[in-house]
Amino acid sequence: MKQVNDYHQTTKHQPRRYARSPGYMDWDNQPNPFRFWKGTPQVDLPFHGADPEGTHSDLYRRGRRSSAEMSLTTISRFLELALGISAWKSFGDSTWALRMNPSSGNLHPTECHLLLPPVVDGRARVVHYNAYHHALSERATIGAELWQATRSHFSNAGFAVALTSIFWREAWKYGERALRYTQHDVGHALAALRIAANLFGWRVTYLCDMSDRDIGRLLGFDRVKWHADEEEHADLMVWVHDATSHDIPRRFPDSLVQSYTDLMFVGQPERLSPQTTRWDLIYDTARYLDRPSTQMKPVPMATTSFREEPSVAKSATSIIRERRSAQQFDRQGYIHRDVLLSILDKTLPRCDAAPFDVALAPPRLDLVLFVHRVRELPPGLYYYSRVKAQLADVQSNMDTTFLWEPVGSGVPLYLLKDGDFQEHAADISCFQDIAGDSAVSFGMVAQFKRTLEAAPWEYKSLFWESGMIGQVLYLEAEAHDVRGTGIGCYFDDPFHALLGLRGNAYQSLYHFTIGKPIDDPRLTTLPSYHHLNRLWPSLSSR
Ligand SMILES: Cc1cc2nc3c(=O)[nH]c(=O)nc-3n(C[C@H](O)[C@H](O)[C@H](O)COP(=O)(O)O)c2cc1C
Repeated sequence: MKQVNDYHQTTKHQPRRYARSPGYMDWDNQPNPFRFWKGTPQVDLPFHGADPEGTHSDLYRRGRRSSAEMSLTTISRFLELALGISAWKSFGDSTWALRMNPSSGNLHPTECHLLLPPVVDGRARVVHYNAYHHALSERATIGAELWQATRSHFSNAGFAVALTSIFWREAWKYGERALRYTQHDVGHALAALRIAANLFGWRVTYLCDMSDRDIGRLLGFDRVKWHADEEEHADLMVWVHDATSHDIPRRFPDSLVQSYTDLMFVGQPERLSPQTTRWDLIYDTARYLDRPSTQMKPVPMATTSFREEPSVAKSATSIIRERRSAQQFDRQGYIHRDVLLSILDKTLPRCDAAPFDVALAPPRLDLVLFVHRVRELPPGLYYYSRVKAQLADVQSNMDTTFLWEPVGSGVPLYLLKDGDFQEHAADISCFQDIAGDSAVSFGMVAQFKRTLEAAPWEYKSLFWESGMIGQVLYLEAEAHDVRGTGIGCYFDDPFHALLGLRGNAYQSLYHFTIGKPIDDPRLTTLPSYHHLNRLWPSLSSR
């Protein structure tokens, strides 16, 4: 607990003292945002096959789509919709890729590995997903018997997906605070996977009882010669399965893990940067965040029905594919209160709806809102209680002069204080105008002390929950013709002071903003996979 809390306190940004970072961009050593493996056969993922059909609400509601067969085509689409490239942007001499999942600084520290079922040549495999090539790097073959044993253990024909983090990718720019950002990104990626799975009638269950070490062993990480500071740290593994199967075991048994450890792994990762800098605090803290094998109790979550909402014309996949971060907002841009309430409604944890039905841990994050431009809702500071069970405790920890005035019946949104908070919001967000010029901006307040006291490694899952909320906010903004932006740069304690929070019972872990975007006309947009020769064979052979 102490080391993890120390890390958190040390990496707080203060207006006069930002967390330790290089303070400049060392462009010569900028890490490659894509991981490539040497010495691994590559399985190209097909692009044929239409996007799954689905409306806006199919992103979240479970059981509305019948389960698609798990084939190379459907798994390809699933990975593309969750973690693939969404577009390229170009300005002057620079061109960069954007992905379906956002990432702090667009640095993409999250990597994805799969225990792929036998959908190619009848062989199951351990593979790494390469978003650049939209291909799988084949690191090991899983024998038929081992795959059969894996399948029988989970009692269904699913597959496993693991997310890992490369700290260096974020530390290159952000220094010591980078560990936090890597974990926000894992949360975004997890929600992106869960939501994409919904469109195929699949479900994603978090294997909460697995140790990080066992995840690494399943992926053959103990056999990899990582370049200094470029190693991948196992974060989580999920089982992707037919939405109708229940009671998924929450771990691989030791005997199965041992059998995977005996596989013949091949391949070595290519370097990401010519030179790296080691930020010791990150690696020293990460040791305390290693999750051991656990036996968690089932996560209690409600089955609240969804709010009636304003109609959304965009299809589910166009919302996913068009998700972008806003860089600037139109100060004349308003949203309606019904839109805000319907956005907030999707952030509620429900045991029967994506993405929070992955059952990460008991929900522990609420939202503080800076309402700036919402029709039929006066500007002010508001509180949205996602976790009913902690509301009384939160109230007793906050400024005693807050009003706690309910905004409407059946909506857990409370007015704390009315007034114009645009300047506060921007100042708290490291003086970023996007937090004040928007329609609404958010802080995500987590039950911190008690969570860490029970299990320090849950520090990571607090950030995952915040990233998952962020992913929902991004998609909801897109659905309602506005745009969102994650805000990792904010002044922690000035925000806590505004709320009257003292000590570390509750801490804000992530901020967000939504408004009417102003597009930058200087940027050119290119299609997502235009760079792949295999899509345009006639052009590449000229
Ligand atoms: C955890 C996280 C923190 C972020 N923090 C900021 C921020 O403080 N300011 C900002 O302008 N954008 C921020 N962003 C937005 C990223 O810069 C953006 O996601 C990235 O450039 C990729 O662009 P895209 O979201 O359009 O795909 C953040 C995104 C994430 C996921």
